[in-house]
Amino acid sequence: MTMGKSVTKAVIPAAGLGTRFLPATKAMPKEMLPVVDRPAIQYVVEEAVNAGLTDLLMITGRNKRALEDHFDREPGLEQALEKKGDQGRLALVREASDLGPIHYVRQGEAKGLGHAVLCASQHVGDEPFAVLLGDDLIDEAESLLATMIDVQQKTGGSVIALIEVDPSQISAYGCADITAIDGEDYVRVNSLVEKPAAGEAPSNLAVIGRYVLHPSVFGVLEKTEPGRGGEIQLTDALQTLAAGEGEGSGVYGVVFKGRRYDTGDKLSYLKAVITLASERVEFGEDLKTWMKGFVS
Ligand code: G1P
Repeated sequence: MTMGKSVTKAVIPAAGLGTRFLPATKAMPKEMLPVVDRPAIQYVVEEAVNAGLTDLLMITGRNKRALEDHFDREPGLEQALEKKGDQGRLALVREASDLGPIHYVRQGEAKGLGHAVLCASQHVGDEPFAVLLGDDLIDEAESLLATMIDVQQKTGGSVIALIEVDPSQISAYGCADITAIDGEDYVRVNSLVEKPAAGEAPSNLAVIGRYVLHPSVFGVLEKTEPGRGGEIQLTDALQTLAAGEGEGSGVYGVVFKGRRYDTGDKLSYLKAVITLASERVEFGEDLKTWMKGFVS
């Protein structure tokens, strides 16, 4: 095992159509749905920055302009707030643009997550990189991404994040067959399958939207045929790397025990909003008091 290049790049695929959240996403990207008072995507970009990733690339597509606008400065609005002396709101408005420059590339065709990641190949080049799915909110306190980066550096392979789900839910996820490694807090991934039927799943370990990948995944993605749903699946490319040998092969998993929300799913989104709102100092206690009354 050799010590490889360090991880500085984050790829954030945000080109999906958001059909699970219609009609809200008819004219608005799903990543812009507010979670309390910030769009879901802002939490994901903050997570990448907090994990020390300095080079951010977002994969967007048709009807995603609001994403780019959100991370730009807004001089008109900033001037108006400055004039009013509203420093509090000014700071909030600048939060997103202060996260640093973001690069954008468009996925010209909706050909799946694997294809979206492949759109990053020129920008990423020959370095390991992180992938953060714009739909998944992960409780940061757990520092999952930093752990995954460590595992990538140690193993030289690719690293996925896993959670245990109820077996009835596994068909909504990529699913991993794993073996524990003695004395390590990460596991070896033997094989992966995208969205298996409940009866055919090798385990109840579901792939969630954080990856730290070896750049050899790009060559594999180029050769990966469309899989489930007729789309080029990242899971299928990782299955090839898990089964392969030699430089850049090998897939490892970090089993995550913290909180994770899928903001593309209506119920999970509502849970994310309520949980994060109830933790806010400004109104968390009031909200919880109100909820107790509401539930009873
Ligand atoms: C994608 C991946 C899937 C993974 C999921 C996590 O699916 O293809 O393997 O489990 O993200 O959120 P999607 O939710 O885009 O259908």
